[in-house]
Amino acid sequence: MKWVYIEDLSKHVSQEIEIRGWVYNKRSSGKIRFLVIRDGTGYVQGTIYSEKKDHPLFQKYDRLTQESSLHLKGKVKKDRRAPGGFEISVSDIKIIQISEDFPITPKKHGVSFLMKNRHLWLRSRKQNAILQIRTELIKAIRDFFDNNGFRLMDTPILTPSACEGTTTLFETEYFDQNAYLSQSGQLYNEATAMAFGKVYCFGPTFRAEKSKTRRHLIEFWMVEPEIAFAQLDDIKKISEDLILYIIERVLENRKTELEILERDIKPLEQVKKPFPRITYEKTIEKLNNKGRSMKFGEDFGAPEETLISEIFKQPVCITHFPAKIKAFYMQPDDKRPDLVLGLDVLASEGYGEIIGGGQRIHDPELLQTKIAEHNLPQEAYEWYLDLRKYGSVPHSGFGLGVERTLAWLCNTKHIRETIPFPRLLYKIYP
Ligand code: 4AD
Ligand code: MG
Repeated sequence: MKWVYIEDLSKHVSQEIEIRGWVYNKRSSGKIRFLVIRDGTGYVQGTIYSEKKDHPLFQKYDRLTQESSLHLKGKVKKDRRAPGGFEISVSDIKIIQISEDFPITPKKHGVSFLMKNRHLWLRSRKQNAILQIRTELIKAIRDFFDNNGFRLMDTPILTPSACEGTTTLFETEYFDQNAYLSQSGQLYNEATAMAFGKVYCFGPTFRAEKSKTRRHLIEFWMVEPEIAFAQLDDIKKISEDLILYIIERVLENRKTELEILERDIKPLEQVKKPFPRITYEKTIEKLNNKGRSMKFGEDFGAPEETLISEIFKQPVCITHFPAKIKAFYMQPDDKRPDLVLGLDVLASEGYGEIIGGGQRIHDPELLQTKIAEHNLPQEAYEWYLDLRKYGSVPHSGFGLGVERTLAWLCNTKHIRETIPFPRLLYKIYP
């Protein structure tokens, strides 16, 4: 008999097949027993019917508990009322293991209990839906860059220098030296961009952030394109195109999961380009008109980001930030050297910053000055300065955080549910 996955049932209507999975739920009514089975790709209901109370399949059914593993054989029937659209009339059950006292029952549990049982919580319907969308999101991101001529360049995780400021570095020993876990692949990407033109890296990044918010992970995944000869305006367009593409893909291929999450998809369908584009200073003005009292040089926090998305109702591109709140490598504005050509894209619906990037300094002397001003050790950046010595060109890039983007797409309040095993402040179990 053919072993098939639940997501492929539509190809096997009226056939005898086998499903291998776990018991999600069960229920009986008179002469019928219902078993909801999950196999990771979906959920399907199996029905067992008999006139006889002691039918052998009923006896097996009685032994089954939540999360017991089994092979289930039967005929696939189309059924409009069934969730997923199919049902199986069960002809045989092979029990693999009876699960005892699965801790996550259909009743409500507290978050800290669920987090401690994250290895089991992953089996729940909503968690499954979020992470199914995550795989689609990652594939869409890769397709976007691969189809647009970008070369994938894997940048190192262990590095001798900081990219995004020295306060959030994870330090480790590297034989007789110190090394850090990568905060961003950007600096290395700048080197590969000079070798390959258009590149992207896509990997885990690490920040020892002492912030306990619903937007911060200690370990998160980031995709980072970098383009030689590109300027600020070029990457505004690419970030818009990328965001529209991933929304389209998720809406197209993950409708069922968005429904499971009860995600109202209208706000996503309404996202269109160009996004509102606004400078940092104009943003401050708008915020202050709405009752805030921000001064030049202050960074946006969660309340400001929420307010911005209420004002615009679309993702927003913010540029021209005060140099002092941004990283050392940012290109200053010609006319206003106190501003840099940074780009942040804020998601709509109050989800805040999902993209950070900008135009990089290409002048060797200026870069050297900035490294000194930021008290960074010159030796560690010699290779980075070389990029400005040998055919230096203006270049730009950005990083999009996978988990922040996914939280927005799924309308999930807390970022901890957007990665299989979140690393959070002081929390590394399981
Ligand atoms: O704005 P960030 O720090 O920019 C960079 O790292 C640049 N070097 C990227 C580049 O230009 N190549 O981070 C970029 C994005 C943020 O917009 C956010 O989506 C995500 O990475 N991010 C985080 N996501 C989860 N938890 C954290 N602690 C994050 N920090 C940044
Ligand atoms: Mg940022």
